[in-house]
Amino acid sequence: MAEPAIQTRRSVSELRCIGCGMTALPDRFRCEHCRDLLEIIYPGWEERGPKGLTAAALKKLWRDRRLSLDSIDQSGVWRFREILPEIPQPQIITIKEGNTPVYELSHCARSAGVAQLLAKHQGMNPTGSFKDTGMTVAASFARQAGYRWVACASTGNTSASMAAYAARGGLHSLVLIPDGKISWSKLSQSLDYGAITCQLKTDFDGCVRVLNEVVERMPVYLLNSVNPYRVEGQKTAAFELLEQLDWQPPDHIIVPGGNLANSSAIGKALREMKQLGFISRLPKISVIQAEGANPLVRTIRENGGERLVPVHAETMATAIRIGNPASWKKALRVITESEGTVEQVSEIEIAIAKAEIGAEGVGCEPASAVTLAGLKKLVKSGFVKRDEFVVLVLTGHVLKDSEFTLKFHRGDLFLGAHESEDVALKIHQRAPLVLEPSVDAVIELLRSAEK
Ligand code: F0G
Repeated sequence: MAEPAIQTRRSVSELRCIGCGMTALPDRFRCEHCRDLLEIIYPGWEERGPKGLTAAALKKLWRDRRLSLDSIDQSGVWRFREILPEIPQPQIITIKEGNTPVYELSHCARSAGVAQLLAKHQGMNPTGSFKDTGMTVAASFARQAGYRWVACASTGNTSASMAAYAARGGLHSLVLIPDGKISWSKLSQSLDYGAITCQLKTDFDGCVRVLNEVVERMPVYLLNSVNPYRVEGQKTAAFELLEQLDWQPPDHIIVPGGNLANSSAIGKALREMKQLGFISRLPKISVIQAEGANPLVRTIRENGGERLVPVHAETMATAIRIGNPASWKKALRVITESEGTVEQVSEIEIAIAKAEIGAEGVGCEPASAVTLAGLKKLVKSGFVKRDEFVVLVLTGHVLKDSEFTLKFHRGDLFLGAHESEDVALKIHQRAPLVLEPSVDAVIELLRSAEK
Protein backbone atom coordinates (compact mmCIF):
# COMPACT_ATOMS: atom_id res chain seq x y z
CA MET A 1 0.00 0.00 0.00
CA ALA A 2 1.49 3.36 -1.05
CA GLU A 3 1.40 6.39 1.26
CA PRO A 4 -1.06 8.96 -0.02
CA ALA A 5 0.16 12.43 -1.02
CA ILE A 6 -1.98 14.81 1.02
CA GLN A 7 -2.51 18.24 -0.45
CA THR A 8 -2.19 20.96 2.15
CA ARG A 9 -2.69 24.02 -0.06
CA ARG A 10 -5.04 26.61 1.37
CA SER A 11 -8.48 26.22 -0.09
CA VAL A 12 -11.95 27.65 0.43
CA SER A 13 -12.62 25.20 3.25
CA GLU A 14 -10.75 24.32 6.43
CA LEU A 15 -11.03 21.67 9.11
CA ARG A 16 -11.66 23.04 12.58
CA CYS A 17 -12.02 21.31 15.94
CA ILE A 18 -15.54 21.56 17.40
CA GLY A 19 -14.04 21.66 20.91
CA CYS A 20 -10.98 23.94 21.00
CA GLY A 21 -11.35 25.61 17.59
CA MET A 22 -7.85 24.70 16.34
CA THR A 23 -7.51 24.07 12.61
CA ALA A 24 -6.37 20.64 11.40
CA LEU A 25 -4.86 19.03 8.31
CA PRO A 26 -7.43 18.11 5.64
CA ASP A 27 -7.21 14.32 6.13
CA ARG A 28 -7.64 14.22 9.92
CA PHE A 29 -10.70 13.12 11.91
CA ARG A 30 -9.88 14.29 15.41
CA CYS A 31 -8.15 17.33 16.83
CA GLU A 32 -4.50 16.68 17.65
CA HIS A 33 -4.79 18.85 20.75
CA CYS A 34 -8.06 17.84 22.42
CA ARG A 35 -9.18 14.74 20.40
CA ASP A 36 -12.60 16.25 19.67
CA LEU A 37 -14.24 15.85 16.26
CA LEU A 38 -13.51 18.15 13.35
CA GLU A 39 -15.89 20.06 11.12
CA ILE A 40 -15.45 21.83 7.82
CA ILE A 41 -15.73 25.60 7.80
CA TYR A 42 -15.60 28.12 4.95
CA PRO A 43 -13.68 31.20 6.17
CA GLY A 44 -14.51 33.31 3.11
CA TRP A 45 -18.28 33.03 3.46
CA GLU A 46 -18.72 35.74 6.05
CA GLU A 47 -17.41 38.46 3.74
CA ARG A 48 -18.28 37.23 0.28
CA GLY A 49 -20.71 34.31 0.55
CA PRO A 50 -20.00 31.00 -1.22
CA LYS A 51 -18.01 31.78 -4.39
CA GLY A 52 -18.99 35.42 -3.96
CA LEU A 53 -22.65 34.62 -4.69
CA THR A 54 -25.75 35.75 -2.80
CA ALA A 55 -28.44 33.37 -1.58
CA ALA A 56 -30.73 34.52 -4.40
CA ALA A 57 -28.06 33.90 -7.05
CA LEU A 58 -27.29 30.44 -5.62
CA LYS A 59 -30.98 29.48 -5.54
CA LYS A 60 -31.24 30.31 -9.23
CA LEU A 61 -27.96 28.62 -10.16
CA TRP A 62 -28.94 25.38 -8.38
CA ARG A 63 -32.37 25.36 -9.97
CA ASP A 64 -30.92 25.97 -13.46
CA ARG A 65 -28.52 23.06 -13.01
CA ARG A 66 -31.51 20.70 -12.85
CA LEU A 67 -31.68 21.05 -16.65
CA SER A 68 -27.98 20.45 -17.23
CA LEU A 69 -26.65 17.32 -18.94
CA ASP A 70 -23.32 17.54 -17.12
CA SER A 71 -22.86 14.53 -14.81
CA ILE A 72 -21.88 16.55 -11.73
CA ASP A 73 -24.88 18.85 -12.20
CA GLN A 74 -27.08 15.75 -12.33
CA SER A 75 -25.84 14.73 -8.90
CA GLY A 76 -28.17 16.08 -6.23
CA VAL A 77 -25.08 16.63 -4.10
CA TRP A 78 -22.63 18.32 -6.51
CA ARG A 79 -25.43 20.51 -7.87
CA PHE A 80 -24.86 22.36 -4.58
CA ARG A 81 -21.06 22.39 -4.90
CA GLU A 82 -20.68 26.04 -3.84
CA ILE A 83 -21.42 24.97 -0.26
CA LEU A 84 -19.07 21.95 -0.36
CA PRO A 85 -15.28 21.55 -0.13
CA GLU A 86 -13.59 22.00 -3.49
CA ILE A 87 -12.66 18.79 -5.28
CA PRO A 88 -11.38 18.88 -8.87
CA GLN A 89 -14.09 17.62 -11.19
CA PRO A 90 -12.16 14.65 -12.68
CA GLN A 91 -11.69 13.25 -9.14
CA ILE A 92 -15.38 13.33 -8.29
CA ILE A 93 -17.00 9.91 -7.86
CA THR A 94 -20.73 10.22 -8.41
CA ILE A 95 -23.55 7.72 -8.94
CA LYS A 96 -26.10 10.56 -9.39
CA GLU A 97 -26.96 10.57 -5.71
CA GLY A 98 -29.39 12.96 -4.05
CA ASN A 99 -32.36 14.39 -5.98
CA THR A 100 -34.56 12.42 -3.60
CA PRO A 101 -38.32 12.88 -3.44
CA VAL A 102 -40.49 14.52 -0.83
CA TYR A 103 -43.77 12.66 -0.23
CA GLU A 104 -46.92 13.79 1.50
CA LEU A 105 -47.96 11.20 4.12
CA SER A 106 -51.62 11.99 4.72
CA HIS A 107 -52.61 8.80 6.59
CA CYS A 108 -49.53 8.99 8.81
CA ALA A 109 -50.35 12.65 9.47
CA ARG A 110 -53.78 11.63 10.74
CA SER A 111 -52.35 8.81 12.80
CA ALA A 112 -49.80 11.15 14.41
CA GLY A 113 -52.34 13.97 14.79
CA VAL A 114 -50.74 16.71 12.70
CA ALA A 115 -52.19 18.72 9.86
CA GLN A 116 -49.35 18.37 7.38
CA LEU A 117 -46.67 15.71 7.24
CA LEU A 118 -44.01 15.26 4.58
CA ALA A 119 -41.23 12.70 4.24
CA LYS A 120 -37.90 13.49 2.64
CA HIS A 121 -37.03 10.00 1.42
CA GLN A 122 -33.26 9.61 1.49
CA GLY A 123 -33.72 5.88 0.94
CA MET A 124 -34.29 6.75 -2.71
CA ASN A 125 -30.54 7.16 -3.25
CA PRO A 126 -28.57 4.83 -5.56
CA THR A 127 -27.62 2.30 -2.86
CA GLY A 128 -30.88 2.77 -0.98
CA SER A 129 -29.81 5.00 1.91
CA PHE A 130 -28.88 8.57 2.80
CA LYS A 131 -25.23 7.50 3.11
CA ASP A 132 -24.65 8.08 -0.61
CA THR A 133 -24.89 11.86 -0.28
CA GLY A 134 -21.96 11.92 2.13
CA MET A 135 -20.05 9.12 0.49
CA THR A 136 -19.73 10.88 -2.86
CA VAL A 137 -17.86 13.74 -1.17
CA ALA A 138 -15.69 11.69 1.20
CA ALA A 139 -14.79 9.01 -1.37
CA SER A 140 -13.92 11.71 -3.90
CA PHE A 141 -11.70 13.39 -1.29
CA ALA A 142 -9.97 10.03 -0.66
CA ARG A 143 -9.26 9.60 -4.35
CA GLN A 144 -8.07 13.16 -4.75
CA ALA A 145 -5.78 12.78 -1.73
CA GLY A 146 -4.17 9.74 -3.34
CA TYR A 147 -5.52 6.96 -1.11
CA ARG A 148 -5.92 3.52 -2.65
CA TRP A 149 -7.83 1.98 0.27
CA VAL A 150 -10.94 3.14 2.11
CA ALA A 151 -12.60 1.45 5.09
CA CYS A 152 -15.57 1.68 7.41
CA ALA A 153 -17.23 -0.03 10.35
CA SER A 154 -20.94 -0.19 9.71
CA THR A 155 -24.41 -1.37 10.60
CA GLY A 156 -24.80 -2.04 6.88
CA ASN A 157 -25.76 1.08 4.99
CA THR A 158 -22.45 2.93 5.19
CA SER A 159 -20.69 -0.24 4.05
CA ALA A 160 -23.05 -0.73 1.09
CA SER A 161 -22.56 2.87 0.07
CA MET A 162 -18.80 2.93 0.59
CA ALA A 163 -18.35 -0.29 -1.38
CA ALA A 164 -20.29 1.15 -4.30
CA TYR A 165 -18.42 4.47 -4.40
CA ALA A 166 -15.05 2.75 -3.99
CA ALA A 167 -15.88 0.44 -6.89
CA ARG A 168 -16.98 3.34 -9.09
CA GLY A 169 -13.83 5.28 -8.19
CA GLY A 170 -11.32 2.46 -8.63
CA LEU A 171 -10.50 2.26 -4.89
CA HIS A 172 -10.22 -0.86 -2.73
CA SER A 173 -12.56 -1.07 0.22
CA LEU A 174 -12.58 -2.84 3.57
CA VAL A 175 -15.83 -3.33 5.50
CA LEU A 176 -16.10 -4.30 9.18
CA ILE A 177 -19.62 -5.28 10.23
CA PRO A 178 -20.99 -6.91 13.38
CA ASP A 179 -21.48 -10.62 12.73
CA GLY A 180 -25.15 -11.58 12.51
CA LYS A 181 -26.43 -8.12 13.40
CA ILE A 182 -27.05 -6.46 10.07
CA SER A 183 -29.64 -7.19 7.42
CA TRP A 184 -28.81 -9.65 4.66
CA SER A 185 -29.65 -7.17 1.93
CA LYS A 186 -27.06 -4.71 3.19
CA LEU A 187 -24.43 -7.41 3.56
CA SER A 188 -25.17 -8.65 0.04
CA GLN A 189 -24.67 -5.15 -1.35
CA SER A 190 -21.12 -4.79 -0.08
CA LEU A 191 -20.30 -8.26 -1.47
CA ASP A 192 -21.75 -7.41 -4.86
CA TYR A 193 -19.89 -4.09 -5.05
CA GLY A 194 -16.65 -5.96 -4.40
CA ALA A 195 -15.60 -4.86 -0.90
CA ILE A 196 -13.47 -7.06 1.35
CA THR A 197 -16.17 -7.74 3.90
CA CYS A 198 -15.37 -8.93 7.44
CA GLN A 199 -18.03 -9.99 9.92
CA LEU A 200 -16.48 -9.37 13.33
CA LYS A 201 -17.76 -11.25 16.35
CA THR A 202 -18.72 -8.07 18.17
CA ASP A 203 -21.21 -5.21 17.86
CA PHE A 204 -20.93 -1.97 15.82
CA ASP A 205 -19.11 -0.18 18.63
CA GLY A 206 -16.58 -3.04 18.73
CA CYS A 207 -16.06 -2.79 14.96
CA VAL A 208 -15.35 0.94 15.32
CA ARG A 209 -12.72 0.26 18.00
CA VAL A 210 -10.90 -2.24 15.77
CA LEU A 211 -11.06 -0.05 12.69
CA ASN A 212 -9.76 3.04 14.48
CA GLU A 213 -6.54 1.15 15.21
CA VAL A 214 -6.29 -0.31 11.72
CA VAL A 215 -6.40 3.14 10.11
CA GLU A 216 -3.76 4.42 12.56
CA ARG A 217 -1.39 1.73 11.35
CA MET A 218 -2.19 1.47 7.66
CA PRO A 219 -2.62 4.09 4.90
CA VAL A 220 -6.33 3.44 4.74
CA TYR A 221 -8.79 6.32 4.64
CA LEU A 222 -11.61 6.11 7.18
CA LEU A 223 -15.07 6.63 5.73
CA ASN A 224 -17.10 6.40 8.93
CA SER A 225 -19.28 9.37 9.76
CA VAL A 226 -16.59 10.99 11.93
CA ASN A 227 -15.22 11.86 8.50
CA PRO A 228 -16.12 15.56 8.10
CA TYR A 229 -16.45 15.29 4.30
CA ARG A 230 -19.31 12.84 4.77
CA VAL A 231 -21.13 15.33 6.93
CA GLU A 232 -20.70 17.99 4.23
CA GLY A 233 -22.28 15.77 1.58
CA GLN A 234 -25.14 14.79 3.88
CA LYS A 235 -25.79 18.50 4.41
CA THR A 236 -27.10 18.79 0.87
CA ALA A 237 -30.22 16.77 1.75
CA ALA A 238 -31.39 19.71 3.85
CA PHE A 239 -30.53 22.27 1.13
CA GLU A 240 -32.45 20.14 -1.36
CA LEU A 241 -35.40 19.77 1.04
CA LEU A 242 -35.63 23.52 1.52
CA GLU A 243 -35.41 24.03 -2.23
CA GLN A 244 -38.30 21.56 -2.64
CA LEU A 245 -40.27 23.59 -0.06
CA ASP A 246 -39.56 26.81 -1.96
CA TRP A 247 -37.27 27.85 0.92
CA GLN A 248 -40.11 27.94 3.46
CA PRO A 249 -38.77 26.11 6.54
CA PRO A 250 -41.08 23.57 8.19
CA ASP A 251 -41.73 23.86 11.94
CA HIS A 252 -40.08 20.54 12.70
CA ILE A 253 -37.60 18.17 11.10
CA ILE A 254 -37.44 14.72 12.69
CA VAL A 255 -34.40 12.52 12.20
CA PRO A 256 -33.44 9.02 13.41
CA GLY A 257 -30.36 8.92 15.63
CA GLY A 258 -27.62 6.28 15.51
CA ASN A 259 -24.04 7.49 15.35
CA LEU A 260 -25.64 10.98 15.19
CA ALA A 261 -23.90 12.32 12.10
CA ASN A 262 -27.02 12.78 10.01
CA SER A 263 -28.78 14.98 12.54
CA SER A 264 -25.49 16.91 12.83
CA ALA A 265 -25.31 17.33 9.05
CA ILE A 266 -28.90 18.50 8.69
CA GLY A 267 -28.44 20.92 11.56
CA LYS A 268 -25.21 22.28 10.08
CA ALA A 269 -26.97 22.82 6.76
CA LEU A 270 -29.80 24.77 8.36
CA ARG A 271 -27.37 26.84 10.43
CA GLU A 272 -25.51 27.71 7.22
CA MET A 273 -28.74 28.45 5.34
CA LYS A 274 -29.71 30.91 8.04
CA GLN A 275 -26.25 32.52 8.14
CA LEU A 276 -26.25 32.91 4.36
CA GLY A 277 -29.78 34.34 4.20
CA PHE A 278 -31.54 31.40 2.50
CA ILE A 279 -34.05 31.15 5.35
CA SER A 280 -34.99 33.47 8.18
CA ARG A 281 -35.71 30.94 10.94
CA LEU A 282 -34.54 27.48 11.97
CA PRO A 283 -36.91 24.51 12.10
CA LYS A 284 -36.75 22.58 15.36
CA ILE A 285 -34.63 19.48 14.77
CA SER A 286 -35.50 16.47 16.93
CA VAL A 287 -33.68 13.14 17.12
CA ILE A 288 -35.45 9.84 17.76
CA GLN A 289 -33.70 6.73 19.06
CA ALA A 290 -34.84 3.18 19.77
CA GLU A 291 -35.42 2.58 23.51
CA GLY A 292 -32.74 -0.12 23.48
CA ALA A 293 -30.16 2.10 21.76
CA ASN A 294 -30.77 5.45 23.41
CA PRO A 295 -27.44 6.98 24.49
CA LEU A 296 -28.36 10.52 23.38
CA VAL A 297 -31.75 10.41 25.10
CA ARG A 298 -30.09 9.25 28.31
CA THR A 299 -27.28 11.80 27.98
CA ILE A 300 -29.76 14.67 27.76
CA ARG A 301 -32.21 13.36 30.37
CA GLU A 302 -29.64 12.21 32.90
CA ASN A 303 -26.99 14.92 32.81
CA GLY A 304 -28.27 17.68 30.54
CA GLY A 305 -25.75 16.79 27.82
CA GLU A 306 -22.67 17.18 30.04
CA ARG A 307 -21.18 13.80 29.14
CA LEU A 308 -22.16 10.85 26.98
CA VAL A 309 -23.96 7.95 28.65
CA PRO A 310 -22.89 4.96 26.49
CA VAL A 311 -25.27 1.99 26.47
CA HIS A 312 -25.15 -1.64 25.40
CA ALA A 313 -27.34 -1.25 22.32
CA GLU A 314 -30.10 -3.69 21.40
CA THR A 315 -32.81 -3.08 18.82
CA MET A 316 -34.30 -4.80 15.79
CA ALA A 317 -33.76 -1.52 13.92
CA THR A 318 -30.21 -2.74 13.35
CA ALA A 319 -29.09 0.36 11.43
CA ILE A 320 -29.25 2.36 14.67
CA ARG A 321 -28.02 -0.33 17.04
CA ILE A 322 -25.29 1.96 18.37
CA GLY A 323 -24.40 2.54 22.00
CA ASN A 324 -21.46 4.92 21.80
CA PRO A 325 -22.25 7.50 19.11
CA ALA A 326 -19.25 9.43 17.82
CA SER A 327 -21.07 12.61 16.82
CA TRP A 328 -23.13 13.12 19.98
CA LYS A 329 -21.67 16.57 20.71
CA LYS A 330 -22.46 17.83 17.22
CA ALA A 331 -26.03 16.48 17.45
CA LEU A 332 -26.49 18.00 20.89
CA ARG A 333 -25.47 21.39 19.56
CA VAL A 334 -28.02 21.08 16.73
CA ILE A 335 -30.83 20.15 19.11
CA THR A 336 -29.94 22.97 21.48
CA GLU A 337 -29.60 25.74 18.91
CA SER A 338 -32.70 24.70 16.96
CA GLU A 339 -34.71 24.18 20.19
CA GLY A 340 -35.51 20.62 19.18
CA THR A 341 -35.67 17.61 21.48
CA VAL A 342 -34.99 13.87 21.78
CA GLU A 343 -37.43 10.99 22.13
CA GLN A 344 -37.19 7.22 22.34
CA VAL A 345 -39.57 4.62 20.95
CA SER A 346 -40.26 0.95 21.61
CA GLU A 347 -39.74 -1.92 19.18
CA ILE A 348 -43.50 -2.31 18.72
CA GLU A 349 -43.93 1.42 18.09
CA ILE A 350 -41.20 1.23 15.43
CA ALA A 351 -42.77 -1.77 13.70
CA ILE A 352 -46.25 -0.21 13.61
CA ALA A 353 -44.88 3.09 12.29
CA LYS A 354 -42.96 1.22 9.59
CA ALA A 355 -46.14 -0.58 8.51
CA GLU A 356 -48.03 2.73 8.40
CA ILE A 357 -45.36 4.30 6.16
CA GLY A 358 -45.48 1.18 3.99
CA ALA A 359 -49.26 1.36 3.74
CA GLU A 360 -48.89 4.82 2.16
CA GLY A 361 -47.10 3.14 -0.76
CA VAL A 362 -43.81 4.65 0.32
CA GLY A 363 -42.11 2.30 2.78
CA CYS A 364 -38.80 2.55 4.59
CA GLU A 365 -36.49 0.45 6.72
CA PRO A 366 -37.09 0.07 10.48
CA ALA A 367 -34.52 2.69 11.55
CA SER A 368 -36.30 5.33 9.45
CA ALA A 369 -39.68 4.51 10.96
CA VAL A 370 -38.56 5.71 14.40
CA THR A 371 -39.28 9.20 13.06
CA LEU A 372 -43.04 8.60 12.75
CA ALA A 373 -43.14 6.66 16.02
CA GLY A 374 -41.31 9.54 17.70
CA LEU A 375 -43.55 12.16 16.14
CA LYS A 376 -46.62 10.48 17.63
CA LYS A 377 -45.08 10.78 21.08
CA LEU A 378 -44.01 14.38 20.50
CA VAL A 379 -47.57 15.31 19.48
CA LYS A 380 -48.95 13.58 22.58
CA SER A 381 -46.52 15.44 24.83
CA GLY A 382 -47.45 18.74 23.16
CA PHE A 383 -43.93 19.44 21.88
CA VAL A 384 -45.28 19.30 18.31
CA LYS A 385 -48.51 21.27 17.92
CA ARG A 386 -51.30 19.78 15.84
CA ASP A 387 -51.28 22.68 13.34
CA GLU A 388 -47.51 22.56 12.80
CA PHE A 389 -45.79 21.47 9.61
CA VAL A 390 -43.49 18.50 10.07
CA VAL A 391 -40.92 16.77 7.84
CA LEU A 392 -39.67 13.27 8.63
CA VAL A 393 -36.29 12.24 7.24
CA LEU A 394 -36.59 8.65 6.00
CA THR A 395 -33.08 7.31 5.76
CA GLY A 396 -33.32 3.84 4.20
CA HIS A 397 -35.30 2.05 1.49
CA VAL A 398 -38.05 -0.46 2.32
CA LEU A 399 -36.05 -3.28 0.63
CA LYS A 400 -33.10 -2.79 2.98
CA ASP A 401 -34.60 -5.13 5.57
CA SER A 402 -37.22 -7.37 3.99
CA GLU A 403 -36.70 -10.01 6.68
CA PHE A 404 -38.04 -7.59 9.29
CA THR A 405 -41.01 -6.76 7.06
CA LEU A 406 -41.87 -10.41 6.39
CA LYS A 407 -41.59 -11.38 10.03
CA PHE A 408 -43.77 -8.44 11.00
CA HIS A 409 -46.56 -9.30 8.57
CA ARG A 410 -46.39 -13.01 9.33
CA GLY A 411 -46.73 -12.20 13.02
CA ASP A 412 -43.31 -13.64 13.93
CA LEU A 413 -41.59 -10.47 15.08
CA PHE A 414 -43.11 -10.12 18.54
CA LEU A 415 -43.85 -13.63 19.72
CA GLY A 416 -45.17 -13.37 23.26
CA ALA A 417 -46.43 -9.78 22.99
CA HIS A 418 -49.17 -8.69 25.42
CA GLU A 419 -52.75 -9.11 24.26
CA SER A 420 -53.34 -5.37 23.83
CA GLU A 421 -50.11 -5.04 21.83
CA ASP A 422 -51.14 -8.01 19.71
CA VAL A 423 -54.39 -6.27 18.82
CA ALA A 424 -52.50 -3.12 17.81
CA LEU A 425 -50.09 -5.15 15.69
CA LYS A 426 -52.81 -7.19 13.96
CA ILE A 427 -54.44 -4.04 12.57
CA HIS A 428 -51.31 -3.51 10.45
CA GLN A 429 -50.33 -7.06 9.61
CA ARG A 430 -50.98 -8.39 6.10
CA ALA A 431 -49.70 -11.97 6.10
CA PRO A 432 -49.33 -13.65 2.69
CA LEU A 433 -52.14 -16.14 2.06
CA VAL A 434 -51.52 -19.59 0.69
CA LEU A 435 -54.41 -20.85 -1.46
CA GLU A 436 -55.23 -23.66 -3.82
CA PRO A 437 -54.91 -22.53 -7.48
CA SER A 438 -58.69 -22.12 -7.73
CA VAL A 439 -60.62 -19.20 -9.24
CA ASP A 440 -63.41 -19.68 -6.74
CA ALA A 441 -61.04 -19.53 -3.81
CA VAL A 442 -59.57 -16.22 -5.03
CA ILE A 443 -63.03 -14.75 -5.73
CA GLU A 444 -64.25 -15.85 -2.33
CA LEU A 445 -61.26 -14.12 -0.79
CA LEU A 446 -61.95 -10.92 -2.72
CA ARG A 447 -65.57 -10.94 -1.56
CA SER A 448 -64.59 -11.36 2.07
CA ALA A 449 -61.98 -8.60 1.73
CA GLU A 450 -64.69 -6.23 0.43
CA LYS A 451 -66.83 -6.69 3.58
N1 F0G B 1 -31.02 5.37 9.44
C1 F0G B 1 -30.34 4.45 8.74
C2 F0G B 1 -31.08 3.68 7.71
C3 F0G B 1 -28.96 4.23 9.00
O1 F0G B 1 -28.31 3.33 8.28
C4 F0G B 1 -28.33 4.98 10.01
C5 F0G B 1 -26.92 4.77 10.32
C6 F0G B 1 -29.10 5.93 10.69
C7 F0G B 1 -30.43 6.09 10.38
C8 F0G B 1 -28.50 6.78 11.75
O2 F0G B 1 -27.74 7.80 11.19
O3 F0G B 1 -25.65 7.29 12.39
O4 F0G B 1 -25.95 9.44 11.19
O5 F0G B 1 -27.23 8.97 13.28
N2 F0G B 1 -26.22 3.83 9.85
C9 F0G B 1 -24.77 3.69 10.00
C10 F0G B 1 -24.21 2.62 9.10
C11 F0G B 1 -24.26 3.75 11.35
O6 F0G B 1 -23.14 2.09 9.39
O7 F0G B 1 -24.81 2.34 8.08
P1 F0G B 1 -26.56 8.43 12.07
